[in-house]
Amino acid sequence: MDKRVKEAYDYIASKITSKPKIALILGSGLGFLANEVKNATHISYKDIPNFPYSTAPGHEGKLIFGELFGKEVVVLNGRFHIYEGWNPGDIKVVIHTLKLLGIERMLITNAAGAINTSYKPGDIVLVKDVINLMFRNPLRGPNDEDIGPRFPDMLGAFDRTWMEKVKNVFPDMNEGVYLAVTGPTYETPAEIRAFRKLGADLVGMSTVPEVIVCAHAGIKVLVFSCATNMAAGILDQPLSHEEVVEVANKVKERFTQVVKKALEVLE
Ligand code: 6GU
Repeated sequence: MDKRVKEAYDYIASKITSKPKIALILGSGLGFLANEVKNATHISYKDIPNFPYSTAPGHEGKLIFGELFGKEVVVLNGRFHIYEGWNPGDIKVVIHTLKLLGIERMLITNAAGAINTSYKPGDIVLVKDVINLMFRNPLRGPNDEDIGPRFPDMLGAFDRTWMEKVKNVFPDMNEGVYLAVTGPTYETPAEIRAFRKLGADLVGMSTVPEVIVCAHAGIKVLVFSCATNMAAGILDQPLSHEEVVEVANKVKERFTQVVKKALEVLE
């Protein structure tokens, strides 16, 4: 086992009494759900050996263990973006540590730009597949055979069963393809036209490294994107991080409901 993972695990295990099976990653402006965690134990990323920590605005950078809507969970409040200078492999230490702690499922949320013109700002979309245009892979390097195979299959990366259960509750929810770039620039209108031709409905700067590491480690994944804005060139207006955070805040109630149901549909 990776020594870094063991050290991180030992530190976290010494601080907690719960043993959650579900982890949540909260995206830009969507960290408010962390306030809903009951009986919470907070562990700052900075205090955990070998953990990367986030510098992005709106990303707090801590693990929160506790109960969310009646389920034992760990919330990753704040994530690690490539545009901050992290390598995609850094997320591997985090997720492998969670796997060692007993995590079996990961609910990932993000804020994304809408490429699909039938989407509206504020829509919550169930991600059914991804396109990796980060041109990097978090699994590059020696493979840990105890965790998963050298050449992992991505067909089963998204837990269809979990998705169907969510769709039973929200039959009108769109399913879309999320395309990941590294950022930090937003896209050009020409890039957005190109990405639409590639089959993307949403574009963002996160999630894909996490999905890849989970697929390899056999962690079941569900992803919700909040389409906070139309992507570049669709509307005649500039994009801003403030707008992303503002729209994410506006959908607070609906987003909370969606995540609540996604947890409740689990046995
Ligand atoms: Cl338009 N692009 C990217 N890459 N990320 C986003 C976004 C757009 N809107 C929110 N996040």
